[in-house]
Amino acid sequence: MDPELLADPFGGYGKLREQAPVVRARFMDDTPIWLVTRFEEVRAVLRDPRFVNSPHSVPGHAGPDPRDRLMELLGIPEEFSVHILESILTSDPPDHTRLRRLVSRAFTARRVPGLRPRVEEITDTLLDELPGHADENGVVDLIEHFAYPLPITVICELVGVPEADRPRWRAFGSDLASLEPERIGTSFPAMVHHLHELIAERRTDLRDDLLSALIRVQDSDGGRLGDTEMVTLVMTVVLAGHETTAHLIGNGTVALLTHPDQLRLLKQDWGLLPHAVHELMRRCGSVQMTQLRYATEDMELAGTRIRRGDAVQPVLVSANHDPRHYDDPDRLDLTRQSGGLGEDHVGFGHGMHYCLGASLARQECEVAIGRLLRRFPDLSLAVAPDQLKTRVRRRQPGAWRLLRLPL
Ligand code: HEM
Repeated sequence: MDPELLADPFGGYGKLREQAPVVRARFMDDTPIWLVTRFEEVRAVLRDPRFVNSPHSVPGHAGPDPRDRLMELLGIPEEFSVHILESILTSDPPDHTRLRRLVSRAFTARRVPGLRPRVEEITDTLLDELPGHADENGVVDLIEHFAYPLPITVICELVGVPEADRPRWRAFGSDLASLEPERIGTSFPAMVHHLHELIAERRTDLRDDLLSALIRVQDSDGGRLGDTEMVTLVMTVVLAGHETTAHLIGNGTVALLTHPDQLRLLKQDWGLLPHAVHELMRRCGSVQMTQLRYATEDMELAGTRIRRGDAVQPVLVSANHDPRHYDDPDRLDLTRQSGGLGEDHVGFGHGMHYCLGASLARQECEVAIGRLLRRFPDLSLAVAPDQLKTRVRRRQPGAWRLLRLPL
């Protein structure tokens, strides 16, 4: 929340990496955390089983959940906080292993490659409609009319959210991302209620979607997946699956339009696209931080003493800009040979909680950015890039996102 860091995260994290790579900071609810900013330590924390995602997995943990106050600050009513505090993202083995296996089996691995034609179709429809959204100066907002609708449509189709309900999910997503307790306080219970209804409806009308697959698992595997868990799982997938992707499409488009030399390279060889999306992910990924991790024992991290029960916050965007790991890290280089390629960045996290939707997100971004730039080769920013930074960036810890992208 530090104004200096919010105004210039990359500069701010750069200073921390040099001067205090593991530093005491405060989370939104004022609880003390350790902010971890270098590539090596971020990866080390994320793959070290001595760090867990739930404070209840810390041996000897007793008393209230340290995250209760955060739930209160966010406006999430107590009876609904279970959906945040016990999600796949905040669980540890064996629960995490079980939940993760359910979703990967039911959906990710089997479906993503076959999904491409449908992603292309949705993209083309949105692009057909894009000029119709232009104002009298020929300016369209890419976030509103393209970057958001694409991933929300894709994820809702996969999960099985009916078309008529999709605008509601988009509103749920932006209410949660607003971090405004009034909006969250109304939206969160509505979202949970809506999911219970949806699951009840689907029970009598099974189809080929994630909801139906989970219901089948529930029926055949007597009680291993509870109703609350199922609601939480579906909610996490829908929410994790659209805001993040929408903003990578937004951030990536800006990066290309403000680096004409790189854009030219791409236009000369569209085969570079998968490579390019990795580099965009590294350089301007939309998720700044992971969930908090908790230390299960006393240890040292980059010379700093961490105590059992301490909360640690790996900062992904900082790790992805660490000059110890990447040459000239702030430069956008679509042909980068080491660094920024494949698994060699932490934009999708690392270790056990590595993003379940990474291949889907990459595919969506490839299709979206590639087809957008080919369809509208003369696309340009309608405001100066620095205006974009100061006026329309969403200032929010955890995210690095554009509120609007006028093109
Ligand atoms: C986990 C980023 C798209 C579903 C994560 C994590 C990150 C991340 C950093 C790890 C969090 C942690 O370790 O605490 C992103 C980005 C995306 C994206 C930047 C888009 C550009 C998606 C999509 C889906 C998805 C499309 C939908 C299938 C998930 C789920 C998890 C996760 C379910 C939790 C995995 C677990 O805890 O085991 N994502 N994600 N994400 N992501 Fe994504």
